Amino acid sequence: MVPQSIFASLMFLPNVAFAQIPQTFWPASVPLVLKSPYLQAWLPTWHTINPPAVTAPRFWTAEKVLGWGGYMRIDDVNYQWLGTNGPGNKTSLMNTIITPTQSIFTIQAGPLEVNITFLSPIEPHDLVLQSFPFAYYFIEFAATDGQAHKVQLYSDIAGGWVSENDASLLLQWNTTQTLEAVYHCISRKDKADRTLQEVNDGAEDGAVYFGMAMRPGLTWQTGSDSAVRTQFNNSGTLTGLQTGTTDKDRPVLAISVDLGSVESTSEPVLWAIGLV
Ligand SMILES: *[C@@H]1O[C@H](CO)[C@@H](O)[C@H](O)[C@H]1NC(C)=O
Ligand SMILES: *[C@@H]1O[C@H](CO)[C@@H](O)[C@H](O)[C@H]1NC(C)=O
Ligand SMILES: *[C@@H]1O[C@H](CO)[C@@H](O)[C@H](O)[C@H]1NC(C)=O
Ligand SMILES: *[C@@H]1O[C@H](CO)[C@@H](O)[C@H](O)[C@H]1NC(C)=O
Repeated sequence: MVPQSIFASLMFLPNVAFAQIPQTFWPASVPLVLKSPYLQAWLPTWHTINPPAVTAPRFWTAEKVLGWGGYMRIDDVNYQWLGTNGPGNKTSLMNTIITPTQSIFTIQAGPLEVNITFLSPIEPHDLVLQSFPFAYYFIEFAATDGQAHKVQLYSDIAGGWVSENDASLLLQWNTTQTLEAVYHCISRKDKADRTLQEVNDGAEDGAVYFGMAMRPGLTWQTGSDSAVRTQFNNSGTLTGLQTGTTDKDRPVLAISVDLGSVESTSEPVLWAIGLV
């Protein structure tokens, strides 16, 4: 038997009981996705105490930046909640909770308190589910001023999820839209020649899926990061267009949701990411 105290010491629960005290201690890196040796994302905390919107999420080895963005427009003002270097006002981090399966950031974005939960499920009683190479992240928010606000949510992934960040490598991608879901799929163009090959511990023969269950207000777009992120920044909705199928300007694959005018989320807005 593992004593409960040992198990508890593995969990990092900094501010649960002291929610108003600013956080002063950080682990070196916060896990965001932790599903297989090839499907991992970590948020280094070395520069800052405001991780989700000022530090680029990385793979677990080397310095590989994955390319991962998150934005939300509130009353036509764009805020960044994940990734770096995009358009949008900064958000502030209020709290972080890390459990064995989830990392939960509470941020303040303008008038909204927003919880961003990164979930890598552990399902020991169902080996089929446990082997499913997908992780999830979802957003819930509530207005701190008690008013309804126009809210649009956005997230994208980039080519770093599927191969080394080398601009000379060609990628291919496509988008599938059904009545139930929208999902993007991206791989190296020469995936078939890369069977069982790794670069810096990453799988070069994988296909990465990024999707969301169909819901009102869902739009998607793929293309260069500046084109797609500017489209969201300026209008809060995406074009439903795929720009190119192979491109040395590593693309982003984006999915956004326009929630209309709301005071809080009635159900979480959830993205799924997998590497097959
Ligand atoms: C957004 O940021 C700009 C400058 O970076 C600032 O002037 C503006 O007031 C901010 N807007 C909001 C709503 O915070
Ligand atoms: C965010 O999470 C905290 C801690 O679990 C909870 O107290 C709060 O109600 C949540 N806020 C929203 C908007 O879901
Ligand atoms: C969609 O793209 C993925 C990843 O590149 C590829 O494996 C798949 O064959 C493509 N599907 C179609 C229908 O082109
Ligand atoms: C983003 O939107 C704001 C306000 O709508 C605008 O001032 C800014 O120039 C836009 N940024 C980009 C990169 O388009």
